[in-house]
Amino acid sequence: MAVQSLGIPLLLLAVLAGGGQSANILGLFTSLSPSHLVIQMSMAKILAESEHNVTVVTALKPPLLHPSINHIQVPLDEADGKSFGALVAGMAKRDTGNAVISMLLAMGSMKPLFAKMEDVLRHQRVKDLYEHSDNHFDLVILGYFMNSLQLSLAHKLKAPQIVALSNPPAMLGTVLGNPSEISYVPAMNVVVEKGQTMTICKRFENLLAFVGHWIFTLLIEQNNDNIYKDLYGDDPSMPRYEDLHKNISLIFFASHGISEGPIRPNVPGVIEIGGIQVKDKPDPLPKDIADFLNGATESHGAILLSLGSNVKAAHIKPDTVQKMFNVISKLKQKVIWKWDDLENTPGISENILYAKWLPQDDILAHPKIKLFITHAGKGGVTEAQYHGKPMLALPVFGDQPGNADAMVSQGFGLSLNLLALEEQTFREAILGIMENPKYNQAVKAFSSLYRDRPLSARQTLLYWVDYVIRHHGAPHLQSPVVHMSFIAAHNLDIYAILLALLYISFWISKRLLSVIWRKLSSKGDTKKKSSHLKHKNKKLKKHKNQ
Ligand SMILES: *[C@@H]1O[C@H](CO)[C@@H](O)[C@H](O)[C@H]1NC(C)=O
Ligand SMILES: *[C@@H]1O[C@H](CO)[C@@H](O)[C@H](O)[C@H]1NC(C)=O
Repeated sequence: MAVQSLGIPLLLLAVLAGGGQSANILGLFTSLSPSHLVIQMSMAKILAESEHNVTVVTALKPPLLHPSINHIQVPLDEADGKSFGALVAGMAKRDTGNAVISMLLAMGSMKPLFAKMEDVLRHQRVKDLYEHSDNHFDLVILGYFMNSLQLSLAHKLKAPQIVALSNPPAMLGTVLGNPSEISYVPAMNVVVEKGQTMTICKRFENLLAFVGHWIFTLLIEQNNDNIYKDLYGDDPSMPRYEDLHKNISLIFFASHGISEGPIRPNVPGVIEIGGIQVKDKPDPLPKDIADFLNGATESHGAILLSLGSNVKAAHIKPDTVQKMFNVISKLKQKVIWKWDDLENTPGISENILYAKWLPQDDILAHPKIKLFITHAGKGGVTEAQYHGKPMLALPVFGDQPGNADAMVSQGFGLSLNLLALEEQTFREAILGIMENPKYNQAVKAFSSLYRDRPLSARQTLLYWVDYVIRHHGAPHLQSPVVHMSFIAAHNLDIYAILLALLYISFWISKRLLSVIWRKLSSKGDTKKKSSHLKHKNKKLKKHKNQ
């Protein structure tokens, strides 16, 4: 008795002092899009750094891997990875109508993608996760990529589920009962200028895009359902496919609506962690880079030039590289240039530091950096926006032109075609951005809104992960809509009943009126008739009397 009463407060104390305890977390990050994987692996890293035991399953080779993360890779050969990458990039284009149509057309070529998702679930190392009874998971995080099917693993493991999406809450939010509000919330790929309401044409376009995505989702779910039945058709412990998503505790979206828009209503299960891949506080820079930047003058500052890891030095025409060097070597600014082949640099100049590998996020955080020349990969653009640095985009392929256009339309910089780069336009663009304060002001204003949050993206992630683990799921957060049919959720049955009542009362009144009418008019008739008869009788009597 004494032990018991002492034991509970002690346990409570331990829990309170420890904050979140270490939990076993499984991340299913089988997306075939490298940019999604960057965000998902950043989440895994943050969770691992805060003492959680994190296991991740990936199809692609992860771009960053914290040493304490247990990694299971379901192999995907490089050629497959490349062709999926192109498919994904094509779908990510910002150009509205075409994006929806190309998504629908791409359905045919997505068979291998679904086969891949099935491979993951059939893979022995993945099956081992639930077939070994000594494995225990407190949480499963599914990186969403048309793979809701893989939620089956969470059911096998009897663990609470969180979904993570590398986009804003457009379509997927409806899984949580998030309202669609298509008259003012743009569907995916629909662009509405900031501060504008949709014109009637825009609303029509939005409706079409919404319906297009809806059909796309329906087709995907049909595919998922078929595979699911194939895999678990004879397993009575598994829920029906359409009930699979009804236990999702919450969804992490890689967005921040307040600063990025659109402003829209969200259910409590929508948690935004946009910018999760950017560190709250930069790490110290390597000494050579720090010294180089400190050597830059306050008035001129420095420039970071990085064309990403996919555009290898060898891919750029030597001619273009020479033009870039000619311009950059004559600038008054110090320039850090990401360059793979340090044996063969574009040329030696006092103001240029070449580096094969760069802590890009930490460099962008440095106050001396005044401009970021970038290939406009999603990650780099997000980091520069976070740190409030204007950009000159030199996009090449995939989602880069779309990212560059979005960045330019927000007023954060300019964009040039790398493949047709000329010395004069390059120089004018660099100087134009550095000398006109409007770019700097626009991106700084965005940055201050983007960072102004009650909890940083990192803290938000940790808080909600611990919350779901603490409460063994979060069914109390759920919108009741999740458990309602389409008809009930839209009150269609009530409208049908009201319509029927209206019709019936109309019909009854009509009937009643016509009966009354007939009664009235027939009374008139009988009166007439009877007076007519009386008349006749009188006549007859008269006749008889005569
Ligand atoms: C971490 O998770 C893995 C995978 O479930 C498990 O094998 C391992 O025992 C766990 N480690 C700890 C310390 O709990
Ligand atoms: C959802 O989770 C609860 C417990 O958290 C469980 O009782 C229920 O069966 C689950 N529903 C489905 C459809 O798996």
